[in-house]
Formats: sequence, C-alpha cells, structure tokens
Amino acid sequence: MPDLGRGQSRITIVSMKVALGVSGGIAAYKAAELVRLLQDHGVRVQVIMTRAAQEFVRPLTFAALSGEKVITDLFGEGAQEPNIESAVEHIAVAQTIDALVVAPATADIIAKFANGLAGDFLSTLFVATTAPVVVAPAMNVNMWENTATQENIQKLRARGVHVVEPDSGYLACGMVGAGRLAANETIVKAVLEALGAVQDLTGETVLITAGPTREPIDPVRYIGNRSSGKMGFALAEAALRRGAKVVLVSGPTALKPPSAAEVIQVQTAREMRDAVFANLERATVVIKAAAVADFTVKNCSDTKIKRSGALQLELEPTPDILKEVAAHKGHRIVVGFAAETHDTLENARKKLQSKSLDAIVLNDVSQPGIGFDSERNAVTILTATESIEVPEMSKWEVAHRVLDVIVKSRAQRGVSAR
Ligand code: PMT
Repeated sequence: MPDLGRGQSRITIVSMKVALGVSGGIAAYKAAELVRLLQDHGVRVQVIMTRAAQEFVRPLTFAALSGEKVITDLFGEGAQEPNIESAVEHIAVAQTIDALVVAPATADIIAKFANGLAGDFLSTLFVATTAPVVVAPAMNVNMWENTATQENIQKLRARGVHVVEPDSGYLACGMVGAGRLAANETIVKAVLEALGAVQDLTGETVLITAGPTREPIDPVRYIGNRSSGKMGFALAEAALRRGAKVVLVSGPTALKPPSAAEVIQVQTAREMRDAVFANLERATVVIKAAAVADFTVKNCSDTKIKRSGALQLELEPTPDILKEVAAHKGHRIVVGFAAETHDTLENARKKLQSKSLDAIVLNDVSQPGIGFDSERNAVTILTATESIEVPEMSKWEVAHRVLDVIVKSRAQRGVSAR
C-alpha cells in the first residue's frame, strides 16, 4: 500500500478513470501490480498496450486484473475490416479519462510523445487527451542518458507532463545506473497528485511569491536576476491541486499562471512587499520562492541615462519581506527559500533561525541544470528538527515535497488553518 506520508495510506477516489499505457520493456510485468495499487484507491484502470509490450506480457493478464478489455491496436485487434467504433476509440478514451499514466515508458514512446507522432493507439491517445499525463520511464542507462532521450524528456516536462524519474541500480541488461522503473508506490503517488486526489491543503490559503523583482535604473534599464518564476508557479499549481486557495504574487515572468490562482503582478521589491502585506491577513501559509532583489537604486533617473563614461549608482537595501512576514507570523506557516552558492547549509540554517521560519528550502544555485530558469531542481528542506534531501527532479515534484513538509508542520502544531 502506498504510504503517502501524510498520516493516510489510502485515498479512495471512486469514479476516477486512468488510462495505463504499457510500452515494450522488461519492466512491463511491474505494471500488473500498478493496476492493483491504483484500484486500491478506487481508480478504474483502462490498460493500453503497445505491440512491443505484448511481447513481454500477454494482454490477458491485464484484462483479468483490470476487469476491462485491453486496448492493443488503433483499429481493433485482429479485425479484418476496421470498424468506425475502433477507429474513433482513442478519442472516446481521451475524453473519458482523468489521467494518462505510462509505465514503463520506453525511449521509443517518449520520442513519439515529444514529437507528436500518432501512429499507434497510445501515442494517438497522448496527442488527443487533455487529461494530465504521468510518464514513468524505464530503459537501459545509456538509452536514458542519451541526448535525444533527455531532450525529449525536457520537452515533455516543459509541456506539463509529470515525469517520474527512473531509479538507479542493477538493470535487466546487466548494467548499473539510472533506468530502472520507479517503485510502483512512487508512480501511484504521482498519479494521485496529478488527479488532484490528495486534498490535504483544503482550508489553507497559501500566499506564494515567485519570479524576480526588477529595480529600475532609468525608464529603460533595471537590475534583475535570472529567476524565471518556474519554482513558484509549480508551488502554486501543486497547492491548488491539493485543495488550497492560492494567492500568487509574481514578479515579471514569461509564464502563464494557473487559472485558479489569484495573481498579483509586481515589478519591484517594494511592490512585492506591499502586495504580500495587503494579502497577509487571509494567508494561513506563506511560501517565499521569489528571488527578491536585495538592493534597489536610490538615485533612479526619470530619463534615459546617456552613455558618458563611468556610471555610479547608489544602491540601498530593499525591505526584507520574509523577515517582516515572519515577525507577523501568528498562526501562519512560513517557508523561505535560500539561494546559496557556498557554505550552503550553514547559510540556510542561519536564515531559518534568524527569520524564525518553519522551514527553509535550500537551493544550491552553483549546481548546473537546477535552480534558476531550469525545469528541474534539487533542494534540501531544513526545519528545526529535520534536514530532508530532495534529489534532482522536476520543479513540480519538488513543489510537492515542500508542500508535504507544510502539511506535516500543520499536523504537528495540532491547530487548524484558522
Ligand atoms: O524562479 P526559478 O527560475 O524557478 O528559480 C527558482 C529560485 C532559484 C529563484 C528559487 O528556488 C529560490 O531559491 N528562491 C529564493 C531566491 C532568493 O532570493 O534567495 P535569498 O537567499 O536571497 O533570499 C532568502 C529568502 O528571503 C527568500 O525566500 C526570498 O524570497 C526572501 N527575500 C529576500 C530578499 C528580500 N529583500 N526579501 C525577501 O523576502
């Protein structure tokens, strides 16, 4: 039984339907248990097998477990003459499922998804559905690390597909490395999160700051930083899925905010501070993922500064929003982020203590491929009593790990959101 780590081992969500795509890898047999685990949560499972998957496991196994006909072909298995029902079945399935999960996902199906190919039932379903998609890759380590596979995975992530990272260890091919299908419990958890079935933030109003701030030098120039807002937006999306109301105070980003969030757009640190305090009263949780400029220009020019020799700017500190919020903490759970390049743990712990936070999310931004403007992140979540290592994964998944800590803090305090 998946331990969801929130004091509940089973969530029953009757009437949800998930399409489970099984593609052709040795790990296909593990998908049989996945059917059972999803059913344990009240989820109906429609299995779709690629041709290659059928070389590893017979469709009968999945039909017996799921109690549903297994879809094996775009135009109806073994049909002499394709009929209209089977020709449009992918559309019917696409419209009736609440999520699509593919486990194991081979390099081939990942490449098809990433490139919009739709030559078999599973890839056609992927193109046709608007339901959330969870992909759990499994393959040889070299295939997983191959540039084409990694680029395809990045494309899928960027389009909102939830990728459940493969585990490392001994692989069926005899090699050692990343590529083993993640544990079924991990995949089930990702599916439940994608379904919005984990509603452990109901009753909370989560105030999240995201993105950079821009401190003007003159009407055309500013001091800024590399924050894209992706981490903060992922937190907003994940908190909404888990039942929270979300107020998202965002600096300038190129991202489309989640439609269910209340969004307040700001430019400067001062504007961010004012927006946060205008909404603090109703917030029960505050998460400060924004990369707020620490300094603003004191002598900002009203007109464009002309190029004439060296330019001297006088900088003054911006308000420390997080510190101010923590000073008015009350019943709220307050979580900060710490972007560090050296003495990372020491610096983060200092911020945790000096700002009286419930938790701080340490981002070692000197590491390549994570942190600023990346799809992925790896963090350490520090609380007064714990240090939780979150290895490199999508920002969506990191967001859920941060929310897990908030849910735990709420439970430990033993008081409701209000
Ligand atoms: O936006 P992305 O591209 O997805 O990148 C994510 C991220 C790297 C920006 C994010 O994960 C992150 O680390 N955010 C915090 C960046 C930061 O400003 O760290 P800091 O160590 O300088 O600040 C510590 C905390 O104080 C932060 O919670 C910050 O929001 C807050 N702060 C800082 C300065 C200030 N004047 N007021 C504040 O509230």
